[in-house]
Amino acid sequence: MSLDVSLFYLLNLHHRMLSDEIRTKAFQKAIFEKVNPGDVVVDIGTGTGILAFFAIQAGAKKVYAIDTSNIIEVAKQIARDNRILDKIVFIQNDSREVVLPEKADIIISETIGSFGLEENICGTLLHGKQNFLKPGGKIIPEEIELYLTPVFCEGKLENIKWEFLKNYDINNDSLSDIAVHNTYKTNLIESNIVSCPKLISKINFTNIEQISYVFKTQFNLQNCKINGLGGWFKAKLSSNVYIDTSPFSSPTHWMQTYFPLQEVVEAFKDKSTIEVEIRNHPFGNSCFIEWNIRTSVREYHHTTFNGLPSIERFFDMYGIS
Ligand SMILES: C[S@@+](CC[C@H](N)C(=O)[O-])C[C@H]1O[C@@H](n2cnc3c(N)ncnc32)[C@H](O)[C@@H]1O
Repeated sequence: MSLDVSLFYLLNLHHRMLSDEIRTKAFQKAIFEKVNPGDVVVDIGTGTGILAFFAIQAGAKKVYAIDTSNIIEVAKQIARDNRILDKIVFIQNDSREVVLPEKADIIISETIGSFGLEENICGTLLHGKQNFLKPGGKIIPEEIELYLTPVFCEGKLENIKWEFLKNYDINNDSLSDIAVHNTYKTNLIESNIVSCPKLISKINFTNIEQISYVFKTQFNLQNCKINGLGGWFKAKLSSNVYIDTSPFSSPTHWMQTYFPLQEVVEAFKDKSTIEVEIRNHPFGNSCFIEWNIRTSVREYHHTTFNGLPSIERFFDMYGIS
């Protein structure tokens, strides 16, 4: 069994997700559309069990509800309170370590990060498809698209770099070096966006056979400065149901993801192009993300691995020497 170093045992995280009506209603609608009476369903990352409960409401015969986290005890109690415990098999484990006694008609998994892939949904669903699903079985979500754009968010980079510590006569250099290697959930507004957003990846989970984790694109910039990248996703849950977390859509708990640059870049007096590369490095049920940016003058390399306050502590947690 792999170690649960996530914070998913905390109830307030689940409150944030379940009270996001756009998210919860979209999954409910897609489940009601795609689960047929008598189906066997696997809910990977069941959390408080909400999607498993929707599957039962849609007529599923049985749901295998899997989660690494202790939150699964809460899900079990809710199932008991709603007198549906006999229809749901709760399994506390990483889905990759689970063997089920039968194949399922449909897999459901809301393991979607703010920039889509941070919870390693690709690895989870590829394993789920190969091990839990009947041939021709269904998956929710069906597809996920990732979007990226250069941004300038006034004051954000300075705040992220803990510049305010200077007001207390404290040198913030070491904190700032770590902080710029983290990603930040943020609500972007139209004026932050300085170039046309691009679709950098479209992943179809129903056809998934192998996963690509490297995405490259270019952006044209003119008369602007940038201090980061903004990213979001659009998930297709069924042919009629989508969740779009773009800044131009209704806000969700996912918000958008801000990828800071080490510094403000003001090199774009004339028309110029920047090259951007995103790399995901899956690790258990999460991913390290790398964002590399090349302008005509400099290259910037960031990775969330370097954003950890203590790499030694991380290695200790996972028993890596
Ligand atoms: C974003 S939450 C969603 C919870 C619930 N499905 C919902 O919609 O409210 C994701 C949950 O998936 C669990 N999880 C992620 N990947 C998993 C995996 N491969 N196996 C088991 N649990 C996983 C996490 O512990 C977390 O509780």
